[in-house]
Amino acid sequence: MIPELSNPSVYMKNPHRVQETLQSMMKAGSNTVQVISDFDMTLTRFAYNGKRCPTCHNILDNSKLISDDCKQQLKDLLNTYYPIEIDTSRPVDEKLPLMVQWWTKAHELLVEQKIRKDLLAVVVKESDAMLREGYQLFFDHLHEHSIPLLIFSAGIGDILEEVIRQAGVFHSNVKVFSNYMDFDESGVLKAFKGELIHIYNKREGALLNTGHFQELRTRPNVLLLGDSLGDLTMADGVQDMENILKIGFLNDKVEERKQSYLDSYDVVLVKDETLEVPNAILHYLT
Ligand code: TMP
Ligand code: MG
Repeated sequence: MIPELSNPSVYMKNPHRVQETLQSMMKAGSNTVQVISDFDMTLTRFAYNGKRCPTCHNILDNSKLISDDCKQQLKDLLNTYYPIEIDTSRPVDEKLPLMVQWWTKAHELLVEQKIRKDLLAVVVKESDAMLREGYQLFFDHLHEHSIPLLIFSAGIGDILEEVIRQAGVFHSNVKVFSNYMDFDESGVLKAFKGELIHIYNKREGALLNTGHFQELRTRPNVLLLGDSLGDLTMADGVQDMENILKIGFLNDKVEERKQSYLDSYDVVLVKDETLEVPNAILHYLT
């Protein structure tokens, strides 16, 4: 049906169900479809030439806007909490308060750095941020077919918007839920706005934004893209859902996590740095 689903990076627990879901979504028509995607390590690359690519937070952490001392503290946080994020031996309810600690401490450190709004674009330009191969086709195709794309990220909204703006793909069909910076009248970071979005509360984030999903209520067919098990709840605000196809990127700790990803994502893409499979699915649906 979709030749790319036979790529060596593709794993499916129930290929028959994937096929049925896709057929049902295709028959309903592309005007009934919406796409909900995570950002870091889902729309952006995990690694390039063997080197890790930065998350939104890392783009700032590695930049000239942060003092050496603060860089070290942020790196220590990453080395402490990232292994917990990807540890499948610990249940989510045990990891959740630790993730809140990570985000809270990181944001406190960033606020101490008096980051200037007008330098964010420069910092993104100078960073190693990289969208996955095939991003142009992905964003342009959704725009051409007027399919709404919600980017739902526990990263930093100001940074991720700049990444997609500089890549030339921040089209009018893109909406972002994320952590946004709050600047004082002289343009210096003073806090983060609103409720914190971390890796395990995307469900609550979705339910806070019922207005968005209300507007999209004629689109009950959802394509969800994520890289963390926390991303699976991003569509919990969708009203009267008919079909959902969940595509998960498994980037790291593959052997330890493969079974849990197969159990929760319909299509698992193992160490696949491209958007080839999502693009092929979108092509089939439109
Ligand atoms: P996402 O929801 O767009 O994937 O963003 C969450 C990622 O951000 C998650 O994988 C952890 C990462 N992160 C950092 O790299 N540094 C930090 O300081 C924090 C708080 C999160
Ligand atoms: Mg992610």
